[in-house]
Amino acid sequence: MTGPEPLSQRLTALLGTRVQFKAPMNRHTYFKVGGPADILARPDNPEEMAEVIRLAELHGIPWRVIGDGTNLLVLDDGVRGLLMLLGRGFGTLRQHPSKSPYVRVTAGAGVKLPSLCRYATQNGLDGLTFAAGIPGTLGGAVMMNAGTPEGAMADVVESIRIMDRKGRLQEMPRDQLIFKYRRLSFRDPETDGQGVFPAVLEACLLFKRGDAELLKALVEKRLDARRKAQPMHQPSAGCFFKNPKTGMSAGELIDRVGMKGRRIGGAEVSTKHANYIVNRGDATATDILELARLIQSEVAARYAIDLEFEVQIVGS
Ligand code: EPU
Repeated sequence: MTGPEPLSQRLTALLGTRVQFKAPMNRHTYFKVGGPADILARPDNPEEMAEVIRLAELHGIPWRVIGDGTNLLVLDDGVRGLLMLLGRGFGTLRQHPSKSPYVRVTAGAGVKLPSLCRYATQNGLDGLTFAAGIPGTLGGAVMMNAGTPEGAMADVVESIRIMDRKGRLQEMPRDQLIFKYRRLSFRDPETDGQGVFPAVLEACLLFKRGDAELLKALVEKRLDARRKAQPMHQPSAGCFFKNPKTGMSAGELIDRVGMKGRRIGGAEVSTKHANYIVNRGDATATDILELARLIQSEVAARYAIDLEFEVQIVGS
């Protein structure tokens, strides 16, 4: 890192109290673990974000935007570089006028997925019922192609707006986006560069008009199923592993190798759903990672299946 002093001063001049140094990430992740990020910045609008990116690039500092931290495991040593949270200006929501059966809604990447889901339901917009109970921000949901077996963000995203490494805004129509299982990549190799996550600023979603009461009932049903099957009130990052392409789900595999309730330190394989690792209160990221590796080795030994992390590891 070159000249940390000037960088910290410039960021403070730009963002005031909306930049923190050595910011503990356990406050920003659903797992409630993770060491400090060197720099945690919260730009309020695209202009500020462009300036933060420009400064980070100028100083050769890696940066990335994070959402609500619902799907992240930040390691105990923390994160070298700069993380960005999206401030107020990224929380806008606009419905485009339409007389057709289809309705477009453009929402900022900082909008919470549950709020968007509620908005859609109340306005009789069909397209996001699969997302009932998925936490996090719209930006995170788009980048991860969040979803369930009932649907995924790929089904509703029509276009997105991103900011590239030079701080330039780019419209990305649907044909530039490659949605895979829990991952978005880009047709343009420059945007999709190795390990580089562009900043999603907003997404335009395409809904079909539906019946608000029917949508509400479906959302309630899905929420109820989740409450019954998943440990929603313990810190976790949702399902830890991706489901294998065919055959048994990750949860069923982990259950069958007898891992439910297995603990390392404060980390535990949920007794409710085996594909959840929960923090019992005093877990470290190391506990969670060790438990995840133990799960992988048990499942590999019994079923010769390599479970892949769905959760993203952040830090070194
Ligand atoms: N199962 C077990 N034991 C367990 C858990 C599950 O035997 O401990 C069995 C179930 O009985 C069922 C099968 O595994 O036969 C699938 O379980 P479930 O219906 O709970 O779905 P899942 O495949 O484990 C997926 C998503 C969830 C999403 C649910 C419900 C993935 C990796 N997981 O779970 O998404 O909420 O469907 O729609 O795609 C997430 O992405 O973080 C997440 C939680």
